[in-house]
Amino acid sequence: MRKLSTGLSRDEVLARLAGYRSEDLPARGGRTFAYVYDPARPDIDELAHEVYASFLDVNGLDPTVFPSLLRMENEVIGIVADHLGGGPDTVGTFTSGGTESIILAVKAARDAARVSHPEVLAPEVVLPVTAHASFQKACHYLGLTPVLVDVDPSTFRVSPGVVRAAVSENTVLLVGSAPSYAHGVVDPISELGQLALELSVPLHVDACIGGWLLPYFTQLGEQVPPFDLSVPGVTSLSVDLHKYAYCAKGASVVLYAEAGMRRHQYYACADWTGYTMINAGVQSSKSGGPLAAAWAVLHAVGQDGYGELAAQTLRARRALVAGIDDIPGLRVLGRPEMALVALAAAAPDVNVFAVCDEMAARGWYVQAQLGYRGLPASVHLTLTASSEEQIPALLADLAECATVPAAPVDPELLAAVQTLDPDALPDDVLGALLPMAGLEPGGGLPEKMAGINALLEAMSPRLRERLLIEFLGAAFRP
Ligand SMILES: Cc1ncc(COP(=O)(O)O)c(C=O)c1O
Repeated sequence: MRKLSTGLSRDEVLARLAGYRSEDLPARGGRTFAYVYDPARPDIDELAHEVYASFLDVNGLDPTVFPSLLRMENEVIGIVADHLGGGPDTVGTFTSGGTESIILAVKAARDAARVSHPEVLAPEVVLPVTAHASFQKACHYLGLTPVLVDVDPSTFRVSPGVVRAAVSENTVLLVGSAPSYAHGVVDPISELGQLALELSVPLHVDACIGGWLLPYFTQLGEQVPPFDLSVPGVTSLSVDLHKYAYCAKGASVVLYAEAGMRRHQYYACADWTGYTMINAGVQSSKSGGPLAAAWAVLHAVGQDGYGELAAQTLRARRALVAGIDDIPGLRVLGRPEMALVALAAAAPDVNVFAVCDEMAARGWYVQAQLGYRGLPASVHLTLTASSEEQIPALLADLAECATVPAAPVDPELLAAVQTLDPDALPDDVLGALLPMAGLEPGGGLPEKMAGINALLEAMSPRLRERLLIEFLGAAFRP
């Protein structure tokens, strides 16, 4: 349908969109273990919907004409800063998500270095391989070079010595995760902070996924290593409210220990014919919906409510980790410190990609993580408050799925993709490779992904990136 209709009735519009939505993964119900954060609190969801809608048409482009947004943002930043060890000089910005918060923190570090170290012409960011991909995206957008360093293969944490060895005179930022997405472990932030102070380099803590939840885990008696702005040497920190604060999507915060650093995040342009544009973040016009809904959810859930949601989440993680011990084919990678668990094969005949497919056939969404630089492939589970009551059934199905053999992948094809040089292949040839890899251009993903994942894993990351860009381009066609 390309031509705009003459106007559908409200009922027709809603019915058609409900039909579209029926193909989506369920965002509620506790069976989707990535992408969505379900508090199992319909009252909170209802409030978020209502408030989001009521601020939908308010524009965050100019907080002087919509002062409600200024007020709500200052209140939200104050609450988040207090939660995460902020001091009197701590400031921040409400952003659309973790990626925007990270892009802004990287921009601030780059522009601060332009002033303090004008001799640095090719700025670098030292990144553990477990740091979220959005740092590499930020480097790509902003013209910095990511310097990737390996993590310990048993704890999945970066060692400060390895970071130190990767620092050069061009380094403008160090990064640690609290915790990392893939394995759910916290990097040694205190030691990284010491290193940052010694080298006079800023340190960003990516607490996008963990920043809101970890302090509640500490209150519940978990041994969470220090990771927030109170750690000496930490200069900025990102925390997503649309994750474990259960706010509506489009809600994250980037905090700076010192206001001076945030100045480098801002952008102003007076050099044109229209209004002087002053933007705190990447977006210019933006709906007030996400901020207002976040304000509402934070205040409605409150300390006690978040404490209870955290307790449910912690019980879910403990039950899952304990239960995996009884499944001979699977093992937990590292020691998950929060609510993200990665399961690897514990026997040669177990294929984690096949486990993901089999789980999907049973109505669970668990996420395949490809092996990378010697770290094993795994099944990722993001647990939330709604996971707790699902754990017994989840474990029973995981145990069954771990025994299902994977369909064999053509060894010649596997060998062939390993030898392809991504930079030597023109775009159209890559497009032609898509069906070979099982990815039909324009079609959805097949039900069984194990073979595709095996091929994707065998390729170089660069080839994978190029191939998936072709896939995306083919999918997004009107
Ligand atoms: C540790 C970490 N950092 C950053 C991000 C990026 O957040 P977003 O998807 O909101 O851009 C994520 C997302 O899962 C994450 O887990």
